[in-house]
Amino acid sequence: MQLFRHIQPLRNLISEAKAEGKRIGFVPTMGNLHKGHLALVELAKSRCDIVVASIFVNPLQFGLNEDWDKYPRTFDADSQKLESVGCDYLFFPDEREIYPNGMAEQTRVVVPGMTDLLCGASRPIHFEGVTTVVSKLFNIVQPHEAVFGLKDFQQIAVIRRMVEDLCMPVEIVPGDIVREDDGLAMSSRNIYITEAERPRAKQLQLTLRWLREQVKDGRRDYLSLEKEGQAQIEAAGFRIDYLQICCSDTLIRAGIDDKQLTILGAMYTEAARLIDNVSLTI
Ligand code: PAJ
Repeated sequence: MQLFRHIQPLRNLISEAKAEGKRIGFVPTMGNLHKGHLALVELAKSRCDIVVASIFVNPLQFGLNEDWDKYPRTFDADSQKLESVGCDYLFFPDEREIYPNGMAEQTRVVVPGMTDLLCGASRPIHFEGVTTVVSKLFNIVQPHEAVFGLKDFQQIAVIRRMVEDLCMPVEIVPGDIVREDDGLAMSSRNIYITEAERPRAKQLQLTLRWLREQVKDGRRDYLSLEKEGQAQIEAAGFRIDYLQICCSDTLIRAGIDDKQLTILGAMYTEAARLIDNVSLTI
């Protein structure tokens, strides 16, 4: 695996590979890699000739009171893991490489509407930071395809919309959610879960699955179902951010006629905010 700290040498090698007709796959990350990230690299590897991963803890997508400064930075372990799954190029820029004119002056990419809902409601500038950095990374790497995890369901939906609206020539490929044995979705932020709350942290997934079964069994009173689900999570000792049965395409609360549904949830533990989702077709 080759490591790149700067844009130009990476671009040069990628253009050479493209000139040879190679298909380029891209997996952007913020590091502290776990099996969920590695599965995305493996998926890209199975579909492409060259896989590029990036590690950049993007300050633009963290709110002022969020965890940018304490977000785990584990570069050595990360690069070993990437190497072990056959990643070809690792882009690991510093902040000046990505924001040479400073963050305040940075041109922004905004996807309106969809970013005000769900995670966007409690993290107001988050998606603007994500779409801005992902646009930059797409322009740097210029991949044929980019793989994103379904764990961040709203993030993929927002990125798909950005790619469509801005006519970006990148295929967006979804990767399944990778989970711990008890069902907890893997996340770099799971390290913030205390030992005492860890056995109960699977409650979000349990409740999402319970809601899916209720809908499969024919219940369509989505608002009261959401309230019942919230009560389960609160009874397990967690604070709810949101729990909503949505139309998978628009992320708006599902109506009675919607057939493709995604149930999304976010809850607070003592020191972490965890998200998860399940989908179903009715
Ligand atoms: P990060 O949280 O590091 O996640 C990188 C990618 O890994 C995302 O596509 C995310 O959905 C995926 N991922 C995380 N946990 C997963 C799991 N348990 N199963 C499957 N995929 C999982 O998402 C970001 O970084 C950033 O917002 C980024 C897109 C890199 C822009 O800065």
